[in-house]
Amino acid sequence: MIITIDGTSGSGKSTVAALIAKKFGYEKLDSGALYRSMAHKILIEGADPADPEAVQKVLDGVKLHVENEPRGARYIVDGQDVTDQIRSPEVSQVASKVAGYPFVRALVLNMQRHYPYKKGLVAEGRDMGSVVFPGATRKLFLSAKPEERAKRRYQELIERSVDGAATVSFDEVLNGIVERDRRDEERENCPLVRPEGAIEIDTTNLSIEEVCVRMENAIAKPKRKKFWGYILGERFSEINFVYGFCYVLTKGIYKLFYRSEIYGRENLVPGKGIVAVNHVSFLDPPLMGSSIPDEVYAMAIDYLFKFPPFAWLLRKLHSIPVSGNASDRASLKRTLDVLSKDKKLLIFPEGERRKCGTLGPLKGGVAMLASLAKADVYPTYLYGTYQAFPPGKKFPKFWGKVYVVFGKPLKWADYEHLSAKEARVKLLEDLAVALRDLEQNLFKQKNISPN
Ligand code: C5P
Repeated sequence: MIITIDGTSGSGKSTVAALIAKKFGYEKLDSGALYRSMAHKILIEGADPADPEAVQKVLDGVKLHVENEPRGARYIVDGQDVTDQIRSPEVSQVASKVAGYPFVRALVLNMQRHYPYKKGLVAEGRDMGSVVFPGATRKLFLSAKPEERAKRRYQELIERSVDGAATVSFDEVLNGIVERDRRDEERENCPLVRPEGAIEIDTTNLSIEEVCVRMENAIAKPKRKKFWGYILGERFSEINFVYGFCYVLTKGIYKLFYRSEIYGRENLVPGKGIVAVNHVSFLDPPLMGSSIPDEVYAMAIDYLFKFPPFAWLLRKLHSIPVSGNASDRASLKRTLDVLSKDKKLLIFPEGERRKCGTLGPLKGGVAMLASLAKADVYPTYLYGTYQAFPPGKKFPKFWGKVYVVFGKPLKWADYEHLSAKEARVKLLEDLAVALRDLEQNLFKQKNISPN
């Protein structure tokens, strides 16, 4: 069993990789430490890191031996234990520079693929899931904002220093991280990418324990794709049969009868998120369920669950029963549970179906959920269902034209420097503006005249 954990420097991957390895009784491969060991060798030999030939000469025939000790791995380069020296900012910069050379990557690749392990291996780095172990059993990708990563690295430097004082300033650490990110992402040779099929976890606001819980959940997931995973793609690999069947059926109906056009699907990234869409008709929930390229959960008023066969179907379709009572804690918990499991939640932020068919004022619920779950919000605009089936009519028209446009996400991380109240107010304002913009752009592009 190989678990890969990739991510930017300081995203927390080393710490969680160590904890996960310990928990499962696996060996841990810290690939950054291998690049660092090579960088240290280059530094002590006095070779110029910018000169590939000089670097190659120094590394020709280099011997690296890793000793797994209970207090952590020891890195021994040509007989010298360099473990305590390889974390310095100087080594960091040289490692990131020489990691771009193909012969350095080939050398380290060989070391990584032959890394000894018994039961399992937790391999952390930047190309573990994409290049070194593309067939890994589980792939995870960690990210975090640069400021947060610099804070962690700075703390680590202080803790490692002899006198409890860092030899570099916080700004130097931050600049170093930004510079290394740029180099790691832009280099031609194995740039830092999110490996195909990897589960992404943003660790900015999470404690180590929270990251570990998410990782353990991700690792514990059965790898075998279910039926719909093969038909509809990776993101649907865990849905039940009824959900998949209704998804395909509804999608077909909207395409056939309402010539549905969906835009901006690429804005929806895998993982947790709140899809916030305007609401004008009973046709909206199924239209949204079949337009979102991911399994999605939605709230449904609890009296709908009174009739057992209907309750069964609603549950299969990922409906969460909520009472009309705004202070209902159980409903809130169920909704937050969905987001904590990295799923998408569909919300009508106006709180009700708009009888007049136009955009209305937004209620606070969406911002509250976003702040509690630290989730990104996708402003989404739909049009045409009001014309096909407005409130008050008994039956829908069986023809028409519907549109759904997914906007760019409002990232929760961009609001957290504000106080909780300010963040919610600002998010609601931005969401209202984004919905209005999506509407106006659609009207302009499709020549729609407002109702
Ligand atoms: O992760 P860490 O900061 O210890 O890595 C040091 C440097 O090694 C990184 O900046 C990166 O350039 C390089 N590296 C890499 N591929 C990996 C691991 C590390 O290019 N798998």
